[in-house]
Amino acid sequence: MERPVFIALDFPDAKTTRLFLDNFRKMADKPAIKIGMELFFAEGPEFVRELHRQGFIIFLDLKLYDIPTTVGHAVASIAKLNVQYLTVHAAGGKKMLRQAVANKGQEMKLLAVTQLTSFSETDMQATQLTSSSMTENVIHLAELAYQSGIDGTISAPSEASFIQQKTADSFLRVTPGIRLTGDSTDDQARITTPSKAREFGATGLVVGRSITKSNNPVAAYQRVLSEWSN
Ligand code: C5P
Repeated sequence: MERPVFIALDFPDAKTTRLFLDNFRKMADKPAIKIGMELFFAEGPEFVRELHRQGFIIFLDLKLYDIPTTVGHAVASIAKLNVQYLTVHAAGGKKMLRQAVANKGQEMKLLAVTQLTSFSETDMQATQLTSSSMTENVIHLAELAYQSGIDGTISAPSEASFIQQKTADSFLRVTPGIRLTGDSTDDQARITTPSKAREFGATGLVVGRSITKSNNPVAAYQRVLSEWSN
């Protein structure tokens, strides 16, 4: 799937999620969807299988971060669910990332989370001992992921162009922190619009609340698609 827009299904249970997805079932091109911790921990792998059977492209956002053997085995288990995208933390280091790559199977793409889009510069500085800026830190983690054979990164939109320069055009740059003009920032710190994200060189978008909290989710999704593709 080229330049996907993933709708973040940050819902508490399968029932709410099915109701939300009913809005999109009649579309010729079903949206790609992202299942995060909230929904996965509530409903488990069986619900992922259900949505896969219904033909959705699935991005499982579990942000794996553990010792290499554990992450490798977790990736092997997740590969059986036929999800197309999965996240790991770049901060897990090269050994962990390589173990993830070794176990991912043919169909799955691994995306490495650099710094959360909810982190401000100050939040990030509070987690580290040595001083480097947010941008330096993100570039460093992106290079580490690239050298480890990972397929792409998750970063703030404004960082996508730096990542592109330091890695390769083919390295995926998927960006959350997307808002339609006028929407609430919520807990995100580094946000931008779909068209700005495109200008920054993003290759895919994750959009949650701008669509899921909208009075008309299909119209909001279509607005995202049109801003993203124009
Ligand atoms: O509602 P909103 O568009 O802010 O949702 C963003 C989604 O992207 C959430 O599901 C969040 O977990 C995820 N995400 C993020 N920042 C990252 C990685 C994932 O916001 N760095």
